[in-house]
Amino acid sequence: MTSTSGKIIVFDEIESTQLLAKEYIEQGKSNHGLVIQAKKQIQGKGRLDRSWASPKGGLWMSTILQKKIPLKYFQGFSVRIGLAISESLEELLDLPFRVKWPNDLFLKNKKVGGILIDLSSQEIFLKHLILGIGLNVNFKLSSLSDELQKTATTIFHESGKEYSIEKIRDVILTTQRAIVLQFEKGLLPNITTLWKERSVSFDSTVKVRLKEKVIEGVEKGITLNGDLIIQTSVGEEIISVGEIEQVIGFEG
Ligand code: BTN
Repeated sequence: MTSTSGKIIVFDEIESTQLLAKEYIEQGKSNHGLVIQAKKQIQGKGRLDRSWASPKGGLWMSTILQKKIPLKYFQGFSVRIGLAISESLEELLDLPFRVKWPNDLFLKNKKVGGILIDLSSQEIFLKHLILGIGLNVNFKLSSLSDELQKTATTIFHESGKEYSIEKIRDVILTTQRAIVLQFEKGLLPNITTLWKERSVSFDSTVKVRLKEKVIEGVEKGITLNGDLIIQTSVGEEIISVGEIEQVIGFEG
């Protein structure tokens, strides 16, 4: 199946679009912009080696990027992608999409989507990047485990409506392309104000998971590179790797 965005291969059911994209790259079957989409994943992958529930009715896709782009430009890539997608989805569906650092997509204080980036590099250049996006679109909350139902939601659950997954996919792909183009040109607009408007946790107390510890403080926004600024009891911390594990005041 093709569209103006390049080639999109759609599967009814596979283990994981992210894993298949890796296999395509290893077998030399990939090209820049190739999109692999599945209607259902049986072994969806999340960040930090977690699993990702991917029943029928969601948007599960991975895009392969393989261009000689200097790696330094990719700092903050996932933050910019998440932010831009939340804006595009809000415009398309008229629902209040938000973000949680670094790149979770939120709807009404619950996680509705996530982004997973696998990157391989050669010296200072990007070799391949697999941009995986999962969005809980048209399925009921009951398709998720009891545990996930406490922190996750679906667009259908929040709006009571079903939407065209293809339309959402194409809008996201257009948004992705625009961000990738910015990175290719090294022209990166300042997103610090936009972040404050769209972050679920700006000015709230959060717990941030770093590699070996968890720190608590108030979210004060992001830097130009997409790093998180946290005001702790002992001073300001700038965090480039990790994730907001909890926002005090709501589950998520
Ligand atoms: C997260 O943990 O927040 C990121 C989740 C990313 C899930 C998507 S679904 C499409 C792609 N294939 C996968 O196996 N994972 C990503």
